[in-house]
Amino acid sequence: STGKFFVGGNWKANGTKESVSKLVSGLNSAEITSDVEVIVAPIFLHLPYVVDHIDSRYQVSAQNCWVGRAGAYTGEIAPEQLADMSIPWVILGHSERRSLLKESNDFVGAKAANALAHGLKVIACIGETLEQRESGQMYDVLEGQLKGVADSVSSWEDVVVAYEPVWAIGTGKVATPEQAQEVHAYIRKWLGDKVSQDVSSATRIIYGGSVNDQNAAELANKEDVDGFLVGGASLKADAFATICNAR
Ligand code: G3H
Repeated sequence: STGKFFVGGNWKANGTKESVSKLVSGLNSAEITSDVEVIVAPIFLHLPYVVDHIDSRYQVSAQNCWVGRAGAYTGEIAPEQLADMSIPWVILGHSERRSLLKESNDFVGAKAANALAHGLKVIACIGETLEQRESGQMYDVLEGQLKGVADSVSSWEDVVVAYEPVWAIGTGKVATPEQAQEVHAYIRKWLGDKVSQDVSSATRIIYGGSVNDQNAAELANKEDVDGFLVGGASLKADAFATICNAR
C-alpha cells in the first residue's frame, strides 16, 4: 500500500509486572528503522504502565473494547475510556475472540465503527481455519469477515486489516510468502471493488501467524504485505525489533 510499513506486537494474555517491565526496557533500547509504524498491545491491566514507560517510537494498543458507550456493562471497557487513557489503537476481531468468545462478523464490525467514532484506530483481524481453506470456503469466509467491517465502517483511514490464517497462529506453521500474497491481493481487490480504489491502495494489509525473525524478511518482500501482526515473537524484544526492520 501507499502507507507506512506497520508492525503490531500482540502480547495476548501474557506477562507479569516483571516480564512487561523487562520487555519495555528491551524495546526502548532496540534499534528500529524510522520507516515503520510499530504498535504494542499488552493486556488492559498493563496498558497504563506501558503507555507511561515505553519510548515514543512505539504506539500502544488494546486487544479488545466494548461495542458501545461507557455505562452499565460489567467487565467491559469502552473506547472512549481507552482514548481517555491515551491509548490510540485497538485490535478487533482476533480469531481467538471470534472462536472462543463467539464474536460474529457483525459484532466485530459494530465494535470497529464504535471504536473509530471515539477516535481510536483499529486493527481489524480476519482469517480462515484450515478446514475452511481445505474445503474451498476460504474466500467466502474472508468476504463475510470483510463485509462485517465494511458494512459498519464509513472511513477506512484509521483501519489496518490483519490477515491471520487460524492454522498459522501459534502453530509455527507460517503461511508461505505466496500464500500470504495471494490472500492479501484478494483483500486489496475486494476493497477496490466494494469500498473504493483509494481505500484499496491506502489501506495497510498486514500478515499474522507464526511470524518470526527468520521468516519476516521474505514475507515483507511481497507486494501486498504491508506489515505484520506478531504474537509469540513480539514477547522477545530482539526478535520483534528484527521483524520491525524486516523491510
Ligand atoms: O495476533 C497475532 C497472531 O495471532 C499471531 O500469533 O505470532 O504467536 O502465531 P503468533
